[in-house]
Amino acid sequence: MSSVHSLTRTRLHQYNGAIYLREVIRIGLNTARKRISKLRDLLNYHSYRYYVLDAPEISDAEYDELMRELVELEREYHELITPDSPTQRVGAPPAEAFTPVKHRGRMLSLDNAFSYDELAAFYQRVTGSLGMDEVDLVCELKVDGVAVAVTFENGAFIRAATRGDGVTGEDVTANVKTIRSVPLRLKGNNLPPVFELRGEAFLSKAKFAEINREREENELSLFANPRNAAAGSLRQKDPKQTAKRALDIFIFSAHDTTLLGVQAQWEFLAKLRELGLKVNPNIKKVSSIEGVFAFCEEWAEKRHTLPYEIDGVVVKVDSIAFQARLGETSKAPRWAIAYKFPAEQVTSVIRQISVRVGRTGALTPTAFFDPVRIAGSTVTAATLHNEDEIRRKDVRVGDAVLVQKAGDVIPEVVAVVKSKRTGAEREFIMPTTCPVCGGSVVRIPGEAVARCTNIACPAVTFERILHFAGRGAMDIEGMGESVVRQLLEKNLIKDVSDIYYLDKTALLEIEHFADKAAENLFGAIESSKTRSLAKLVFGLGIRHVGAHVAEVLADRFHSIGVLKKATVEELLQVEEVGPKIAESVVDFFREERNLEVIEKLASAGVRMEERAEAVGAKVFEGLTFVVTGTIAGMTREEVESLIKRLGGRASGSVSVKTDYLVAGEKPGGKLEKAGELGIKVLTGAEFLRMAGMA
Ligand code: IVH
Repeated sequence: MSSVHSLTRTRLHQYNGAIYLREVIRIGLNTARKRISKLRDLLNYHSYRYYVLDAPEISDAEYDELMRELVELEREYHELITPDSPTQRVGAPPAEAFTPVKHRGRMLSLDNAFSYDELAAFYQRVTGSLGMDEVDLVCELKVDGVAVAVTFENGAFIRAATRGDGVTGEDVTANVKTIRSVPLRLKGNNLPPVFELRGEAFLSKAKFAEINREREENELSLFANPRNAAAGSLRQKDPKQTAKRALDIFIFSAHDTTLLGVQAQWEFLAKLRELGLKVNPNIKKVSSIEGVFAFCEEWAEKRHTLPYEIDGVVVKVDSIAFQARLGETSKAPRWAIAYKFPAEQVTSVIRQISVRVGRTGALTPTAFFDPVRIAGSTVTAATLHNEDEIRRKDVRVGDAVLVQKAGDVIPEVVAVVKSKRTGAEREFIMPTTCPVCGGSVVRIPGEAVARCTNIACPAVTFERILHFAGRGAMDIEGMGESVVRQLLEKNLIKDVSDIYYLDKTALLEIEHFADKAAENLFGAIESSKTRSLAKLVFGLGIRHVGAHVAEVLADRFHSIGVLKKATVEELLQVEEVGPKIAESVVDFFREERNLEVIEKLASAGVRMEERAEAVGAKVFEGLTFVVTGTIAGMTREEVESLIKRLGGRASGSVSVKTDYLVAGEKPGGKLEKAGELGIKVLTGAEFLRMAGMA
């Protein structure tokens, strides 16, 4: 095959119902092979910098650009796709998912030590058996996740399995392949022909909190801790779902640690790192039990600063020869032990259970207790979720309770200390009227949640606006609780759309707001107009539409105009959208008040569609449009806001200065006028094509 650039060809490319005319440069097979190999090397290198070393050298956008080029090339040259290509991390659910896999050597567990005395006893046993005074030990963090075995054949990732009963686990290859810190190919030569590594797959505390937020939004049961969430993620049937969970992994062991030609665990860990594997950097070699105590002490204190949860420290005899001499019991090696941190549960006394009204009107009982210090911070409250939870735990006002932090972040009441009951405790009764507006509270049979039924409930309005302006949504900096409360109290806003009609003078009415603060908030409001469609959809606060579902919907429908016309059937076609979400979306857009808010947002210039930015260019720069009639389900305001965002001008009346009249369905008299003036008329479809949206 010649390596010269061959011909350019044009083809029609069908994408999401839209037709694109695309130029595809077909280069010679050899050139493609070289470029593909180069791109894979680059992507692997940068992935390694980012996911393993946590030290990226290029921006996400640059990385995405390389990935896009590789995807394009592989699409053209199917024959060059290999299973270890960075594009192949996420595939279709394989048939072999969760089938039994026999481990190459038993996957052992560890004995636990719950005190320094027990650690000291372990050291005694080890030194005693070896007949030595001292022995080198390696201290590692005990990351709280799920044990996995990852097998490489001649350097290539081929399989991953859970621990199971230690002899046989379940095949989770497709899911582990989505973990970006697992190299699809090990670095270096002279690798063992078959190498089964062991490590811990885990989720960060942040991801755990995010997953639970999303689950709460969808009224699903919550994961108790990151470990359960990680286990759930590994057992997803569809690897695409696992990929979204952003699992990570630390490798610390193998079915045979001598295979890398090393003599000790410390060296072994260094070798793993050389192979491109992710090894926890917080390790220490010590030569006395005091050294172990110091390491445990240090991390018992610092554990809360880590982005992932640890539940202890693993102490291992460094020398592999000594490990062999010490041997193992049926369950665990005699050369290692897990020191478990004391459970971080403290007692406190519940002084009050108050009800918070959320943005869906849901009444959430929250326990307020005496301040206690836990997992690095002072905690005074925890959600009790709903009435059933309170009954299940039998929590009463005045009760002494055990409090902990789920996943090291979310405070929760674990249990009541019943032995401390005096009889003076009071049962909590869910109010039958809303504590904020007095509206009636209803709990639909079969649902766990009680709700205020007043759609104009000020608490709901407040929470909705706060949510809309919040980080994950339109991200309006400076628009926090106090500002929103005052704007509502002063009648300056009634719903989210009013935010965009505030002027600077109005903002000066906010307490402690001088010119500068008003200016900043005004600027933040302005810049929020261009947030992505997904953020807007999330910000609207449609029930069951969390941040992730909002992204899915934005990806599929590209604009509010199209989304709001979607039927339940169309929504159900979208992966990840079930009947609950579909019905909720349709209900939302059926509500007249919601449509009014959306109209007002569009008129204010809030971005209502996605594709425009992807196209990037200001394609309407210098052009003046007049819109008449409706186009693809978008109102005139939405079309006008799109025109503005693409750099054009939207005018209300046809004149000689008009460049185009966009005539949708049911055009008015403007069409005639345009005809008289000889102005070019675009159909809705022509207009959308020009805007890069169809
Ligand atoms: S060594 C034979 N090292 O803790 C060696 N385990 O309670 C066995 N774990 O099953 C494991 N961090 O899933 C080892 N640095 C670490 C670890 C670790 C977490 C997990 C592992 C093991 C469990 C034992």
